[in-house]
Amino acid sequence: MDHFLNPRNMGDLEDADGIGEVGAAACGDIMKISLKIGNDGRISDARFKTFGCGSAIASSSMATELVKGKTIEEAMQLSNKNVVDALGGLPPVKIHCSVLAEEAIKAALDDYLKRHPEMAARVAAAKAQKQPNE
Ligand code: FES
Repeated sequence: MDHFLNPRNMGDLEDADGIGEVGAAACGDIMKISLKIGNDGRISDARFKTFGCGSAIASSSMATELVKGKTIEEAMQLSNKNVVDALGGLPPVKIHCSVLAEEAIKAALDDYLKRHPEMAARVAAAKAQKQPNE
């Protein structure tokens, strides 16, 4: 409930390293996530701007809290279920709001990796090492 009443990390980041903006086809709500990522590949800060329902705002608030301090690889694993669990659950009709948060985080990471091909290569190499048979 706390993230519904007191959303964290609202706003934009000046000089964001990655920005993801996504919209939900179902309801037309829009979510924008900005990330600050250090040279070590760790997310040092995250902010959101959400034009949408309360669950979308709570989901983006929680998602920004969850990815702070994580590496790019770890943040890529964030799922909407992690967000829902961390919020203590969402009603079934509101699950798509948490999906929006997952998509916005991934879009921001993609944006960062597009701007930093050297880091994209590092992430791809680490992934390949973990899954040698794939
Ligand atoms: Fe659209 Fe929640 S109703 S994101």
